[in-house]
Amino acid sequence: MRTTTLIEAERIFEARETLAETLARDVADELTRAIEAKGKATLAVSGGSTPKLFFEKLSEIDIPWSRVSVTLVDERQVPETSERSNARLVRQHLLQNRAAAAKFIPLVGNPDAAKVPAFDVAILGMGSDGHTASFFPGGDRLAEALDADSGKRLIEINAPGAGEPRLTFTLPMLEQAGRLALHIEGAEKQQVLKQALAAGPEEDMPVRAVLRGAAPVTLYWCP
Ligand code: 6PG
Repeated sequence: MRTTTLIEAERIFEARETLAETLARDVADELTRAIEAKGKATLAVSGGSTPKLFFEKLSEIDIPWSRVSVTLVDERQVPETSERSNARLVRQHLLQNRAAAAKFIPLVGNPDAAKVPAFDVAILGMGSDGHTASFFPGGDRLAEALDADSGKRLIEINAPGAGEPRLTFTLPMLEQAGRLALHIEGAEKQQVLKQALAAGPEEDMPVRAVLRGAAPVTLYWCP
């Protein structure tokens, strides 16, 4: 069992606006570095309600977006017409302005989604039940999602708290990312994170698997 916790850096902000601006700038810098090094970059983002402002700020930054592939860390298996679709969220809030030139790789209905190159940057969120990506407590394939040796990159997963069947990139796929950030906001999630950083089973709060994993995580938080 993994026990060491690796929060590499904590970026604490007073307001959502400054967090979103800084995270957007940091992500843009990382994508630019990747493009300079190998001509292209891959960004994996989370869905949910937290990332909207960050997406909007990032979409306005001038980088060579035509060389960037954007995908999702995880997705709800619903059509893009659904308000629950993370692809819809990304199309509406990130793939606009300068970032309209990026290539989007959806997960639902895309048999090639698992072939996406290793992520240069992956941004995770966290739910108040301690899930991240679609690593939910009680997930029917949680052990496989967290297994470093499964050889799987993207799997389907169902969980009582998930709302609908999910697709999620696995922990080893996330850990290969050049940069891994955890973006959470609000006092409630700060408490959840505190609990996750304490001792306890990963199955109860699967975000622990990321926090105790092979890759250092940078935390972005504001009240
Ligand atoms: C999803 C997400 C998920 C999200 C957290 C936080 O599709 O549900 O990718 O892992 O990051 O649930 O969601 P909120 O930002 O809505 O609290």
